[in-house]
Amino acid sequence: MKKLFIGSNLKLYKTNLQTLQYLKSLQELTQDISRDLLELFIFPTQLALSDSIGEVDRKYITIGAQNVHWTSEGPYTGEVSARSVKELGIDLVLVGHAERRQVFGDTDQLINKRVTNSLNEGLQVLLCVGDTIQDKELEISEEKLVLQLKTALHGIPESLLEKIWIAYEPVWAIGEGGIVASPEFANSIHQVLRKILVGISQNYGSKIPIIYGGSVNNLNALDLISQPEIDGLFIGRSAWDAENLNKIIRIALSALNL
Ligand code: PGA
Repeated sequence: MKKLFIGSNLKLYKTNLQTLQYLKSLQELTQDISRDLLELFIFPTQLALSDSIGEVDRKYITIGAQNVHWTSEGPYTGEVSARSVKELGIDLVLVGHAERRQVFGDTDQLINKRVTNSLNEGLQVLLCVGDTIQDKELEISEEKLVLQLKTALHGIPESLLEKIWIAYEPVWAIGEGGIVASPEFANSIHQVLRKILVGISQNYGSKIPIIYGGSVNNLNALDLISQPEIDGLFIGRSAWDAENLNKIIRIALSALNL
């Protein structure tokens, strides 16, 4: 049976208090759902991580950091290390989100360093890859994504690949003005990514979840999750209300035909 990976990146949209209220309500609303069917993960702001981990029962909600530095210590004022995140009891980190790439200039090489350090410190990594509208128009989306994926995973020992989840998030689909990818297009891209992963590792490549993100909402969630290659949904705006995220989770679970 397919286990669904569903989560949200809260970006810079909730204060500490709002985050805790959100998590409390999300846990209550989804507690009855078997975690054999659902991996539910939330990325609060860095400042809210410590309180968040105290607020939730980790058997219901996995808390992740939105970013970590690429080394464990050093002269990097204002940064947060994977080591200290792990020490807090956090198990997951987001690497390569489109906003990190576009707003903060994270390159594929830098992302590879963040992934490597996070894995070495024992964190699970949700690695995002995404094509731009220009890539799509030039019909080079696949090439771009293969490059991003291969560079990000370069040099990672095979045994650590089980600590990787992938999110395909087209830049043109994310945020205000984004247009959701058609389920068929997303599925075909996931197929390409799967092929690369299996090429990197026969053992783990077929097991790494590949999650879709970008303008997911109540109306498109079912069609997306019903695609054979889509293992989960990574949701921004539509997930920032706990009740609505709960609704989307139940819509997605209905695809499992239990
Ligand atoms: P969105 O954001 O669902 O609001 O488009 C997705 C994301 O940025 O991960």
